[in-house]
Amino acid sequence: MKLQIHGDTHVPGDKSITHRALMFAALAHGESRLSGLLPGEDCRSTASVLRALGCSIPEIPQDGSEIRVTGHGAGEWRRPEVELDCGNSGTTARLMMGLLASRPFAATLTGDESLRGRPMRRVTAPLHQMGAHFNEAGEPDRLPIEIVGGPLRSLDYASPTASAQVKSAILLAGLTAGVPVSVTEPNLSRDHTERMLAGLGVHLQASQVEGGWRVAVPAHQRPLPALDLRVPGDPSSAAFLAALALMAGEGELVIRGVCVNPTRTGFFTIAQRMGAQIERSNERTEGGEPVADLVVRPSTLRGTPVGGGAVPAAVDEIPILAVLAARAEGETRIAGAGELRVKETDRIAAIADNLRALGADAEELEDGLVVRGSDRPLAGRVKTYGDHRIAMAFGVLGAFPENEVEIDDPACAAVSFPGFFERLQELTG
Ligand code: S3P
Repeated sequence: MKLQIHGDTHVPGDKSITHRALMFAALAHGESRLSGLLPGEDCRSTASVLRALGCSIPEIPQDGSEIRVTGHGAGEWRRPEVELDCGNSGTTARLMMGLLASRPFAATLTGDESLRGRPMRRVTAPLHQMGAHFNEAGEPDRLPIEIVGGPLRSLDYASPTASAQVKSAILLAGLTAGVPVSVTEPNLSRDHTERMLAGLGVHLQASQVEGGWRVAVPAHQRPLPALDLRVPGDPSSAAFLAALALMAGEGELVIRGVCVNPTRTGFFTIAQRMGAQIERSNERTEGGEPVADLVVRPSTLRGTPVGGGAVPAAVDEIPILAVLAARAEGETRIAGAGELRVKETDRIAAIADNLRALGADAEELEDGLVVRGSDRPLAGRVKTYGDHRIAMAFGVLGAFPENEVEIDDPACAAVSFPGFFERLQELTG
C-alpha cells in the first residue's frame, strides 16, 4: 500500500534565528518583542546561558506566542556563578564565546557529551588573536573552556571553512567590543547574523571577493535598539516533512511560513534537481528574511552529484538528502562535506552505517557519501548517537508502511523539532 499524504502544516521557528533573536534581545537596550521562537532544547540552552549572565529571559512558549525581553546591554552582564551549560548546542557555545570575549570577567562554557566532543579552536583561535584568553579545562580544542574576556583589537579573518558559527562569533565579538572586524569565508554560510545586524542599524558591508565572501562590521559604539521579530519556520525542519511528501505515493503537502533565505535552501534546490515537485507560494519578507509557503507533491526522483559548493546551504540537510537518495533512481554522490564529521555526531559515518543497517546501498567517503537508490523495503534498527537530525531523517523512512525502522532514541528530535514524531503520525495517519 502506497503512503498517501494530504496536509496543510507548519514547522517550528528557525533554530538559528531563535538563538540570535535571544542574544540580540539580551544585548539591546529596551523591550524586545519576539514571537515564533523555537522552544527546542538548543534554544532553551541559549536562554538559560543568558539568564546565568543576569539577563531576564522568560520561558520560550511552546506555541510560538510572544515574549517580551528587556535588555540593558552587554555592559550589565555579570560574571556567572555557575558553568554555562550549552547542552547539545554548538551555536550557543560558539556564538556565546564571541559575545563573552570582550566582557570583563571569566566564564566557563561546557556542554553535553556530544558538544564536548566538537572542535572549539575554530572560534577560540581567532578570538585569541583579538585579545581574548581561553583555558581549556579538559581535552585540547574541546569544552569545557574558561574564557577570560577583556578589551579586544580589530581583526580581518580569513576563515578556512564556510561556517556561520565562526563568522558570527567574530562579528559579535567585534560588535560588543566596539572594534571593526571582517570575516572572509570560502563559500557563503547562513547570513542571519548579518541580516539581523543590518535590521538593527549596524552598517555592515557584505560582498563577493576573490577567494570567497567577505563581511565587515565597523566599530559600532551606539546601543543596539530592541527588536520586534516574528521568527519564520525552520527550513531545516521543513526538509523532513518535504521529503516525506516527495517519497509518498500520492497527495500534496503544504508547509506554511518557511524561511527561504538562499543560504538555507540548498536541500530544496538539490531535491528539485532530482525531480522534486516543490513550489513556493505567498512569498513575502518577514523580519528581514524571505518567507514562503511550500507546496510539495510526490515525485519520481533521480540521483544527482552534490559538490562542495552546494554543501553550506544544505549543511544540516545532508541526512535527509541521503534518505531521499536511497529512494531515488541511480547514484547520488555527495562530496566536499567533511564538516559533517564534526556535527552533533560524525554524520557521514552515522548516515552510511544506518542506511546499510536497513539494507540500503551506501558508501562512506572521506568527505561525503555515495548512495545508490532502490525501492526495496528497508528494515532494521537505527542508532542516532543522540543526533536529532539522524533521528528525524530515519524517522521519515520509518513512516512508510513498507519499511520497518526502529529508532533507538527518537526523543532527541526535541533538540530542534519538539513533537516531530507526533507530527509524522498526524500526517501519515
Ligand atoms: C549554525 C551554523 C551551522 C549549522 C548549525 C547552525 C548557526 O554550523 O550546521 O546547525 O546557527 O550558525 P557551522 O557554522 O558549524 O557550519
